[in-house]
Amino acid sequence: MKKSGLVFLLLLLLLPGYIAEAKTDSSILISPDTKLVATISVQQGKVKLKLLSETDTISDILFLGVQTEKNISEADWQLTGQSRRSVNRIVSVLYGPVSNFKESFNELIMSLHDQRNHTFMMLAVRVYNQGVAFRYIVPSVKKEMKVYAELTEIGFSEDDSCIWSWADYQTLEKNYYQTSVSEAKHVSLPFTVQKASDKYIAVAEAAVVDYSTSTLRQDAAQTSLFHWDLVPAADGSAVHVHDNSDTLKTPWRVLLVGNDAAELANNQLVWLLNNPPAVDQDWSWVHPINYCGIWWEMHLGLSTWQYDGGRHGATTANAKRYIDFAAANGIQGVLIEGWNTGWEKWGTKNAFNFITPYPDFDLVEVARYARVKGVELIGHHETGGDWRHYEEMLDSAFTLYASLGIHYVKTGYAGPMQPEGESHHGQLKVEHLQRVVEKAAKYKIMIDAHEPVMPTGLSRTWPNLMTFEAVRGMEWNAWSEGNTPAHHCLLPFTRALAGPMDYTPGIVNLQLAYRQNERVKWNGLDKGTSKVHGTLAHQLALSVVFYSPMQMMADLPENYQRSNITTLLSSIPVSWDTSIVLVAEPGKYIVTARRKGMEWFVAGITDKEQRNFSVGLNKLKGIGNAKAVLYEDPYDNSLNPESLKSREVLLESGKPLLLDLKNGGGFLIVIEIQR
Ligand code: NOJ
Ligand code: CA
Repeated sequence: MKKSGLVFLLLLLLLPGYIAEAKTDSSILISPDTKLVATISVQQGKVKLKLLSETDTISDILFLGVQTEKNISEADWQLTGQSRRSVNRIVSVLYGPVSNFKESFNELIMSLHDQRNHTFMMLAVRVYNQGVAFRYIVPSVKKEMKVYAELTEIGFSEDDSCIWSWADYQTLEKNYYQTSVSEAKHVSLPFTVQKASDKYIAVAEAAVVDYSTSTLRQDAAQTSLFHWDLVPAADGSAVHVHDNSDTLKTPWRVLLVGNDAAELANNQLVWLLNNPPAVDQDWSWVHPINYCGIWWEMHLGLSTWQYDGGRHGATTANAKRYIDFAAANGIQGVLIEGWNTGWEKWGTKNAFNFITPYPDFDLVEVARYARVKGVELIGHHETGGDWRHYEEMLDSAFTLYASLGIHYVKTGYAGPMQPEGESHHGQLKVEHLQRVVEKAAKYKIMIDAHEPVMPTGLSRTWPNLMTFEAVRGMEWNAWSEGNTPAHHCLLPFTRALAGPMDYTPGIVNLQLAYRQNERVKWNGLDKGTSKVHGTLAHQLALSVVFYSPMQMMADLPENYQRSNITTLLSSIPVSWDTSIVLVAEPGKYIVTARRKGMEWFVAGITDKEQRNFSVGLNKLKGIGNAKAVLYEDPYDNSLNPESLKSREVLLESGKPLLLDLKNGGGFLIVIEIQR
């Protein structure tokens, strides 16, 4: 045990509160590095956890159980037994932000009995160096039982501040706010709290399987107290238990802990809390990819998804043009949206047909052409929210793609979740995603899910579940007031903690000037003033700062053909050996370093403020004196956001890198490790 950890523990044992708790049924669970301590006690029928670090009380959590009947009398838990175990291993991954993870935790499982209500439950708690996770395990449940609520309360302090977006059961495409916790009334997960000590905590969930996802709702009286809140189904319950096992395990609930914002952004617990992939399954066909596609042109209103009207984007000729462009520029995949019939009926029942192309699109020929050119096609299944109809057609849709050698599918659910009253983030959608991913695996197809539930790490178990949208992404810049550079500086501390994010970065024509007069509004949010905010260097940096194993180069081939960063963008890896957030302040700036093989890519972005940085590179292994190329905002202040400078720099061992980011700016530095 390290000395500081030991002193901390001794002090802890002297705390009056702890001594009092020790008289009741009380246990301590310590993180492997001894820096986080959970004291768990059963007092007056209630199970409480206090999470402490060397500097703070991080959170007080109250576990009252899982409500399976509409009316439950006050829980009265007594401890009847407990068991412990420790895990310490290296987990290698197929692809990811790193090539392996250290999985190290201490676990306590408490058995609890409520005599008054004749119920049993177990509470599993794990303490990692990076946070605490817990789940309820309810034995002997009846099949077809319903869960109405999870009675967990998470308490912070009145003076904590937070980063949050409004909970919305239908969409995750939201802005984030930085306020005191008192203003966060009902929030989506991950929900991030900043302590006065500058420690950052994010509340998230992991391994949501056969369950609904969750939000947090502020207590009516106490503004720093939050109630766990399951997304409801149409019948007022949240979860229908129809698993065949007779034990109900809730998903893991997790508090990710970072000593500062950068450490929080490096947290990978959500992924680690999921089951590993089935050992007997062959996943060698799963490959991360970068891609471009027939996509931005529709969002800009330069062409349409639907065939009628004479402005159709997904024609055979246009698809071949994108394939040629990808092949010539080292881009591995081409997404084609709007090739199948149904877009003209979007919003009606059974609108989309996932196997019938429009008359001007020859799918077989396009697939052949892509194969010859060595480019992967990314198929598209927009459902408009009609997931049942999609499931009816899944086998035929995947059979068609698999027969043509199409290994990637982007799914979409832009429309109200059906049937009426159900929500996009409830159990129905969770189970639908699971069925799609399992079926896709049978056809060796990889999935990029748009309008999904928030990721909860299932990609660990199903590596063909590559990436998710679940974010207010690039498309908003084409037809609304758009996304601020500050939004980008918040996502790594909120949304991105849940898993990979298909933000679709890499726009180079930021003012959207190209063919501006030909653009046709197709969306009520479009005021005709849309543009991509921030600078070109900022866009370039996003492809490193935002991790996605399917990473888009979202702009049009015409714009890339006139740009001098196209081959640089396409050379940015889409899976990494190491990733480290070096410095960060949420909403203001972030600098992320990622290594693949013998190259480091260090990228940073700022909000609307101009910033000077001094970035220490000593955490980057293998860098002594090295030559690097720096791509940055132009030096003069009469900034043309679409311009960018590049220069060679000589890095000297131990010397920080001085950087100047313009308003909404960014940088990328590519460093070759010397042998
Ligand atoms: C919303 C998706 O996020 C976007 O990427 C797609 O182009 C449209 N729906 C149409 O499916
Ligand atoms: Ca979307």
